[in-house]
Amino acid sequence: MLVVKNLTKRFGDIVAVDSISFEAHEGEIFGLLGPNGAGKTTTIRVIATVLEATGGTAEVAGFDIRKNPEDVRRNIGVLTADIGLYDRFTARENLRYFGELYGLGGEKLEKRIDELIHVLDMGRFADRRAGKFSTGMKQKVAIARSIVHDPKVIIFDEPTAGLDVLASQTVVRFMKNAREMGKLVVLSTHNMHDAEKLSDHVAILHRSKLVTTGSVSEVLQRAGAANLEDAFIKIVGDDEAKSTERARELEQLAKAGKKK
Ligand SMILES: Nc1ncnc2c1ncn2[C@@H]1O[C@H](COP(=O)(O)OP(=O)(O)OP(=O)(O)O)[C@@H](O)[C@H]1O
Ligand SMILES: [Mg+2]
Repeated sequence: MLVVKNLTKRFGDIVAVDSISFEAHEGEIFGLLGPNGAGKTTTIRVIATVLEATGGTAEVAGFDIRKNPEDVRRNIGVLTADIGLYDRFTARENLRYFGELYGLGGEKLEKRIDELIHVLDMGRFADRRAGKFSTGMKQKVAIARSIVHDPKVIIFDEPTAGLDVLASQTVVRFMKNAREMGKLVVLSTHNMHDAEKLSDHVAILHRSKLVTTGSVSEVLQRAGAANLEDAFIKIVGDDEAKSTERARELEQLAKAGKKK
């Protein structure tokens, strides 16, 4: 359902995503994990065809991001922090507006909007203007907006950031339901504890590179770790240890060179 092949994104001299590859399938929650600055959001924006890839490619529901960007956009629903709402529209009007951008309308769209208002528990504020909404209310409308066209692939970047327990639970319940319905849900977050509870498979990024991918149990077993955070620290810690060792070697070589 989502195939990422040697995907690379450069911004000038900065390599934000460095030749990463992974696959995710329908009917699962896939954790795209990694610390701040690892390259998660950039990866998502390239997959969503918002940014152009520098190298490699990705396929969404069988469509190539370079060759068929419109088909990709039809099949994907993406929530990132920069999704905007119209302040002067109510929640419902926002959803209607974005639904119409996808070519939806009439009874079918109204039904879909009602359903989203119900599952995301937005009934209390659906007909109020979005401008004065709290963070959590805005986030729920943004989530609903990103999936109004009922896409096969749902990508949520930090969907519960800033949400209270109840609102987070609603979002988690939504992701589980979507999985039940056979969707691919990609959950991107730096919070490995949260992701571990929900994810079937994961890909962990660090400094623009993929450090590991597989089912949660495979990753834990390979790293000999009790949880994903430990696994990450073990894998990256080894890496870091190696690079410090190499730096020390170089330093000694340089010193030896001076003595000569
Ligand atoms: N538009 C841009 N121009 C230049 N550099 C960028 C741009 N967008 C991202 N980067 C850089 O790419 C790298 C990866 O950033 P990205 O936002 O993808 O990380 P992230 O994994 O989503 O992190 P976080 O958990 O903090 O959201 C960072 O070094 C960032 O500074
Ligand atoms: Mg990010």
